[in-house]
Amino acid sequence: MTANELEKLNDEYGIREQLVFTDGPGGLITAEISNPHGEATIALHGGHILSFRPSGQEPVLWLSRNSHFTPGKAIRGGIPVCWPWFGDHPTDTDKPAHGFVRTAVWSVSESEKLADERTRLKLSIADSDETLKLWPHRFRLELDCTVSDVLTTKLIATNTGSKPFTCGGALHSYFNISAVPNILIKGLEGCAYKDKVDQYRRKVQDGPVSIKRETDRIYLDTEADCIIEDRGMQRKIGISKNGSRTTVVWNPWIDKAQKMADFGDDEYNGMVCVETANADTDVITLAPGGTHILESVIRVEPWAGNV
Ligand code: BG6
Repeated sequence: MTANELEKLNDEYGIREQLVFTDGPGGLITAEISNPHGEATIALHGGHILSFRPSGQEPVLWLSRNSHFTPGKAIRGGIPVCWPWFGDHPTDTDKPAHGFVRTAVWSVSESEKLADERTRLKLSIADSDETLKLWPHRFRLELDCTVSDVLTTKLIATNTGSKPFTCGGALHSYFNISAVPNILIKGLEGCAYKDKVDQYRRKVQDGPVSIKRETDRIYLDTEADCIIEDRGMQRKIGISKNGSRTTVVWNPWIDKAQKMADFGDDEYNGMVCVETANADTDVITLAPGGTHILESVIRVEPWAGNV
C-alpha cells in the first residue's frame, strides 16, 4: 500500500485518539485500536486480530516471535480466521488448510466510536476469480470487532450466490498463558470429541482439560462457554460464543513445535488455542441470501480461584 493509500484509509476510517492505520509487522497494514478500556491490533492481511489487551492486563492473545508476516502466508498466533473450511479441505488436501481467507487481504468497511469510548471496526472480503478457483461459491464475509475491556468478534458469512453452500470455520484464538502446567480449561466436561492425535477416535472429556502432551481435539456439539484458569498469571480468560457448535483445543507440544518454521521451539509452553468453531459434523449450510454469525467474546475475569 502506498503512503497515499494509507493516508486515504486514515482519512476515511481513522478515529482520532482511538484508531489509526499503520505499516505493521512485515509492512502489513494494521489497525491500531486504543481506548480507555483496552487495545487491539488488527491486520488487513487475513482479517487477523494480532493482539488484544484490556487496560492494566497482560496480553490476552499469544503471537509467535517466529511468525511470518508475509503476503500469502498465515500469521502464527492472535486470531486467524479459518473459512470456508476448518483444517484440511474435506476432499482435496492440496487446497490450503483452514481455508483461504486467512492469507488474503481484507478491506475496511466501517469504523465507529461507540458509546462509552468503545471502538468498532468492520473488515470484509468477498469472492473473487481466485477464491472461485478454490471454492465455487459467491460469498461475503465480514469481521466485526468491538474493542473495550472485552473483545467481541463476529464473523458474518453471507451466501451471495444462487445455490446453497456448506461452510465450516473458526476464530482460531491463540491465548497467552504463563505455562501449560499452570492451566486448566473448564467448560468442556462431559463433551464428546474427536482426538486428532489418536486417529480421530471419539472420546468423552473427563473433567477439565489439562495440557500434558500434544493436544488436538475437536469438541463437537458444544455451545458452552470456556474458561482458561491460569494460576501462574492469577487470571481467568473467559471465552463465550454464539453460532458455534464446535470448540477446538490445540497445543502442538515439543516435537511439532520444533518442526514448524513459524513457531519457536519452546513457545508451546506459553500458549493454548481454544477455538470458536464449526467443524466436522457441525458445519453450516447457507441458502442463497442466508447469513450466519459466528461470535466469540473474550474477557479477563477476576482470579478468585483454585486450580
Ligand atoms: C488447529 C488444528 O486448529 O490448527 C491443528 O486442529 C493444526 O490440527 C493447527 O495443526 C494449526 O494449523 P496451521 O494450519 O495453522 O498450522
